[in-house]
Amino acid sequence: MLDVKKIRNDFPALHQEVHGRDLVYFDNAATSMKPAEVIDTLREVYSKRNSNVHRGIHYLSMRMTEEYEAARRRVMRFINASSEREIIFTGGTTASINTIAYSFGEEFIKSGDEIIVSAMEHHSNLVPWQLIARRKGAKLRVIPMNDRGELLIQSLDELISDKTRIIAVNHVSNALGTINPVKEIITKAHDRDIPVLVDGAQAIPHGNVDVQELDCDFYAFSGHKVYGPNGIGVLYGKEEWLEKLPPWQGGGDMVKRVSYEETSYADLPLKFEAGTANYPGAIALATALDYISSLGIANIAAYEKELLDYANHRLGEIGGLKIYGEAENKISIISFQLEGIHESDAGMVLDKMGIALRTGTHCAEPVMTAFGIKGILRASMVFYNNMEEIDRLADALKKLKQMFG
Ligand code: ALA
Repeated sequence: MLDVKKIRNDFPALHQEVHGRDLVYFDNAATSMKPAEVIDTLREVYSKRNSNVHRGIHYLSMRMTEEYEAARRRVMRFINASSEREIIFTGGTTASINTIAYSFGEEFIKSGDEIIVSAMEHHSNLVPWQLIARRKGAKLRVIPMNDRGELLIQSLDELISDKTRIIAVNHVSNALGTINPVKEIITKAHDRDIPVLVDGAQAIPHGNVDVQELDCDFYAFSGHKVYGPNGIGVLYGKEEWLEKLPPWQGGGDMVKRVSYEETSYADLPLKFEAGTANYPGAIALATALDYISSLGIANIAAYEKELLDYANHRLGEIGGLKIYGEAENKISIISFQLEGIHESDAGMVLDKMGIALRTGTHCAEPVMTAFGIKGILRASMVFYNNMEEIDRLADALKKLKQMFG
């Protein structure tokens, strides 16, 4: 269904040698490579069409404003939001979550209140909530997980109380690959009138995300993990919520009238976009989303499942290799440790063999603590990876075991 050989030609960075070996890039959950179309879009915007948006009445500025707003509509269609007013461009997932943690927290969280997160959050969906909890005297409560890395969402029946103000949960765990049952979490939360923020950084590249179908109140993701540029991201928010929240940052573009006495804010979505927008990034992000749409999200998900099954099979042959994260429902991520070999040593030797994967805590230290470990190796695979690369990893791991005796 996917012509992977042809697709690989769209990604210039895949075609290079590292330490004299053809690169095997398995660090896609940290950041994805970019198709030439995305790189060309950036080059063209900067070289031919550059001009600041929402400010000028001259030709270039007007045209760039139209392109930027068209990019917003392309993102809106990709996640099936109901209005472009619900799409805010940010610097990335972290900026999106901090925006809501601050804005929502300032308006709706007070001393004694509770915020629910899950046991498998990335630091970006944990620390912003800790910050607001500390400022307001609120408390974090945590949805636990089992030893397969699946959330025990029945526990929500006890965790949710009259003190709960918001639930913040990731759609897919970056460390374990688990796809969380966010729809069920949202239904449970809405039964008690509690809004839900979903961190979608790891979900967007792998499957269909329909924010209306999920009925989430907020959804955050980054451009760079979904084949788009760095420094651009999206915050989706239901219009009814965004209208109620105060802006996070002040500056140009987010205001209607300003005087020393009083300032009124711009209508959505600009109320949340202070300062010059990253319009080249937004336009190139829309190009990336169009690119994966043209491949077919369902085709991507089906092929990545084949990669995961094959990697499970090949890595399963290796004695002393323990996989962390064995959820029934997961994306193409395999996190593991090799008995007796520190993950950093393993990562360094694999690098010398041309294989790039991530080592360490994966910005999810509480997940490591829950499993009683300090860190893991993680191979995160996407649609431009292939079975030969998985063979290279399996063979390299076998060699590594021999080297370390
Ligand atoms: N959040 C990124 C990762 O999982 C950086 O590697």
